[in-house]
Amino acid sequence: MPAPSLNLRPVIEADIAPFFEHLQHPPAQQMAAFIPENPADRGAHEAHWAKLLANQSVLNRSIELIEPDADPVLVGHICSFTMEGDREITYWIDHHHWGRGIATQALAKFLGVETTRPLFGRAAKDNPASIRVMERCGFRLLREERGYANARACKIDEVVMVLDR
Ligand SMILES: CC(C)(COP(=O)(O)OP(=O)(O)OC[C@H]1O[C@@H](n2cnc3c(N)ncnc32)[C@H](O)[C@@H]1OP(=O)(O)O)[C@@H](O)C(=O)NCCC(=O)NCCS
Repeated sequence: MPAPSLNLRPVIEADIAPFFEHLQHPPAQQMAAFIPENPADRGAHEAHWAKLLANQSVLNRSIELIEPDADPVLVGHICSFTMEGDREITYWIDHHHWGRGIATQALAKFLGVETTRPLFGRAAKDNPASIRVMERCGFRLLREERGYANARACKIDEVVMVLDR
């Protein structure tokens, strides 16, 4: 299958409701593990995104799939933010579009927009798809940590990946 054609554009308010739908997939929640305390709380989701959109230091992009003779389809988002001095990335793809190289291509494109280095990414240690996405874009394993994961209601192993340049 040919690589999908993607467009990254700034997140707009109308994207927040579809992002909520993307989040409502229990296997994705388990996979990502480090998710909001109550992912089904639409009000909390809207408040969270309102804060992100108002924060000039957060770089957020919506990921659109471009297919011939069709309107662009919003398939996910990718963001970077600063946490305790480290610039970090996060991303989420609607499960209907998994396994087509979308996250990998979106991250590769995003790295042209978010040029801070080192750039960090985190994933549950048992989320090989996300780790692979980062590896394919040049990230390497920096260290492992343990952190509380809302989706699992316990502490789990987490990998911290870094892109040096
Ligand atoms: C993780 C996620 C972003 C991947 O999106 P995607 O568009 O399906 O990813 P891609 O198709 O670009 O790449 C996935 C890679 O992982 C690999 N992969 C998938 N499942 C795997 C598994 N169980 N074991 C090993 N590799 C796996 C794929 O083969 C592919 O690698 P390849 O291109 O070398 O074959 C998507 O599943 C998602 O949004 N999950 C929920 C949220 C989440 O986990 N976000 C990341 C938080 S850190």
